Formats: sequence, C-alpha cells, structure tokens
Amino acid sequence: MNTARLILDTRRRVAPVPRRLFGSFVEHLGRCVYTGIYEPGHPTADPHGFRGDVLALVRELGVTTVRYPGGNFVSSYRWEDGIGPVDQRPARLDLAWHSLETNAFGLDEFMRWVRAAGVEPIMAANLGTRGTAEAVDLLEYANHRGGSHLADRRRDNGAADPYGIRLWCLGNEMDGPWQVGARTAPEYGRLAAQTAKAMRRFDPDLELIACGSSHSSMPTFGTWERDVLTEAYDDIDLISLHAYYQPVDGDLPSFLASAEDMDRYIDAVTAIADSVGAIRRSTKKIMIAFDEWNVWYQSAAPSTPPSGEDWPVAPPLLEDHYSVADAVVVGGLLISLLRHSDRVTAACQAQLVNVIAPIMTEPGGAAWRQTIFHPFARTARHARGAVLDALRDSSTTATDRYGEVDAVDAVSTWDDSTGEMTVFLVNRSADTPAEVTVEVGGARVAGVVECVTIGGGDLDARNTADGPDHAAPRPNGSAHGTGSGIGLTLPPASWTMARLTTT
Ligand code: AHR
Repeated sequence: MNTARLILDTRRRVAPVPRRLFGSFVEHLGRCVYTGIYEPGHPTADPHGFRGDVLALVRELGVTTVRYPGGNFVSSYRWEDGIGPVDQRPARLDLAWHSLETNAFGLDEFMRWVRAAGVEPIMAANLGTRGTAEAVDLLEYANHRGGSHLADRRRDNGAADPYGIRLWCLGNEMDGPWQVGARTAPEYGRLAAQTAKAMRRFDPDLELIACGSSHSSMPTFGTWERDVLTEAYDDIDLISLHAYYQPVDGDLPSFLASAEDMDRYIDAVTAIADSVGAIRRSTKKIMIAFDEWNVWYQSAAPSTPPSGEDWPVAPPLLEDHYSVADAVVVGGLLISLLRHSDRVTAACQAQLVNVIAPIMTEPGGAAWRQTIFHPFARTARHARGAVLDALRDSSTTATDRYGEVDAVDAVSTWDDSTGEMTVFLVNRSADTPAEVTVEVGGARVAGVVECVTIGGGDLDARNTADGPDHAAPRPNGSAHGTGSGIGLTLPPASWTMARLTTT
C-alpha cells in the first residue's frame, strides 16, 4: 500500500478557478460538426439542425467555452464561404483534412449553436493562407453593430445584434510544418503583432491568443515562444499550448503520469514569457491558453486523412474510443490545469464530439458519453471558488519517461460562499493502492458529501452506443472523517473526486 498526505488550508490559495479552464473545441474535422453537433433531419434536431441529444450532453459536460473553427482547418478557411443563403455557399476542398467542406455550417450557425449550448465562443482567424485584412473583416462581421458593409451583411443574414466575441486565436499551430502557411517564429510574431494591433483599433479590450509551439517536443520549442513573444509581447494577452498524450510502447506508468509533462510544459512557457517580460521591463504578465489538450491515439489508422482523388464530406476521422485508463489520464491533466490556474486562464479539451472527443454520435442514431466525459464533467461542475495551494507528501512510483514521480497527484478547490471543498486525486501507480489523508486548515470538515472513483478495475473498459454506461465513476465508500480532515483509499490507476462540506 502506498501512502500520501495532502495538506490544505483555505487561506492558502493559488487563484480563483478560471471558468474558461473547462473549454472545448469544435473544428471542421471529420464528424465533429456534421453528424456531430449539426445534423438536420436527426430525430432530436431542432429547426436549426442542432442535435438536441448532443446539446444536452454538452450542457451536462459543463463546457464553458468552445474554440472554432480549427485547428489545422482554419489555416486555409475562408470564413465568408460559410455565411449567407446555404444553397449559395461554395463547397471547398479542405487542405488540412483532405475533405470536402460544404459550408452548410458557418459562423452564423456556430453563434446560434453557442447560444443554445450556453457557452462562450473562442474564434480563430486564418493566419495561414490569409492575413490581417481578413481577420479584421471577420471581426467587423462578427462584432460591429451595423452601418458598415460587413456588419450589415451579418444583419442581412439574420443577426441584428453583434456577437461580441472577446477571445480570439491569431492563427493555429503556425510552427507546424504540416500547417498550410507555417512560418518562422519572427515572421509569425510580426504577423500576430500586426494583426493584434489592427484588431485592437476596432476594440482595445479584445483578448488575443498568439500561437505557441504545437507541442513541447517540437524542435523549435522554447525559441519559438521567445521569438514570438519578443515580437508580439505588448500586443497579445495569452500564448497557446497544445499537447496530446498516448501510451508509448504500452508504457502504462508513464502514460498515467502524463500530467508531469503538462506541468513541466506550463512551467517552462511561463518562465520564458516572464523572462521576455523582464527583458522588456514590462509589468504585464502573459497568460496561457492551453487551447488543445487530450489523449489522442495518433498512431490509430482512422486518424489518417483520406488521400488521392477522394475528398469525402465529413468522413469519420480521429474517432478514438476511450478506455478507463484514458479517463484517469484526462482527470490527471485537469488536476495539472487547475494547479496552474494563476497562469492558465483558458483551456480547451480537443475536441467536443466524435473527433478525439468525450461525446460520440451515430449518424441518425444515439449520442453517448465516452469514459473521458466523466472526469471532465465532474471537475467542471465541482471545481468552484478558489484553487487551494496543496502541499503533497506521497510515496513515489517509477516511470520510464519521468523517473520517480509522486504516486498520488491531487488538487483541491474551496468555495467560501458554500463551504464546499472538492478534492481531485489520481493514483498513478498501475498496481498499488494508496491510502490518503487530507488535512484541512482554515475550516472544519463537516462531512463527506460524495466520493466517486473511476479506474482500479478493468482499465480497458469502454463505452459504446449499446453499452453507454459500462464505464463510469462509482461510489468510493472508503472516504471518512470530520473535523481536521478525512482519509480515503485510492485503487491503483484511478481518478477520484471527494466532495466535502466545511464550516
Ligand atoms: O485537434 C486535432 C488537430 O491537432 C488540430 O487540428 C491541430 O491544431 C492539432 O495538431
């Protein structure tokens, strides 16, 4: 049996929980849009063609923000193709995913969907094949009240009120050689700065995200951030991070400890941003938008885009079927994001439906929750108030990739308006349970309201259309205690949420 001690004090706080941490991502990729969120003719579709079963699951998932329309897709996208009468919109070849984009769903449909889902949009501009002028045109169409050509086109298209989109991505993964229009860091930094300046002439209060590296393993990681920020520091607010995890050569211990990589990645980019700021003697702090993260089995065959003559409409791409082990990793990644909530103020799990997603659908059929849905939904719902600065003392577990790491990773939030304290924990040991004591200062524990665990059993269990509730969190009856703390037991390879009331 491993042991761990978690020391919490309601007076020692990292930051308020950023609600934008629970963002997601809708890209025109595979079946995320078409037969995902949008399927006219589906039995649950509303008059706009939005699937009602998917909307209900999106609300249950607790998503707060949704990034759109890509991703790699955005780098050759013409946003004007997706507005106006649907039967007059052009079909285009999507160079990123080798698919045919019908443009039946575009900006106005997305904004209507955003309202129905009750989420905030994050809009990405194409800085791949396009540039500053088109980004400003998109901004005028979306956010200007009227009286100009593009704002009046929006009004003609049925949206009298401006959309008021605040958060914008200045391109996507501009360091990636696979990206249409990839650039060097100084080139991109200058383009991002120029575009940001132009957009701020329209609205100085926009929040603008510059592209960081596509992953921390990119050969230019580090110098990319430094060079982009050297050009654009004063003009942007956030820098993006992207990371996808999968087991390599069946190495489960390292996979379970994927949050180690996320922690180090965030810490490294924070240090680079602060060093650029220090050189400039700036008092401004650049925040982090972890606007693509997830488990993604990139080696899986369906991830390969079709090629040659075939340009299918909404082919099934990147449709990973997630296991319990994947859910444990996703829970661990959310712990890392929360722990860094003083710097990571926005994040998007990539993606929302069908494409490496918590929600799966069958065309014309059912929608269901994948295993990774559960830790996300519980964290989004119960991580409230402030993130506490937790002190940890844990047995360690060996990993090939990260060396010895704490077997138990954890974070806690505390809502002083309700007295609810929630502890999120992961046991990253693949074979040994952990006995955990949680010591609480600054408040007294009145009781354990709920304690649930996923993992510890069949790590390969998955949910399907026929067995949608096969793998889900189950009650963990081990949590006990009142007063100065609680104790609980975590099965091997598991994610747990314990909700306490305090007085
Ligand atoms: O989310 C899938 C893809 O991963 C996105 O299009 C791209 O930005 C990233 O490489």
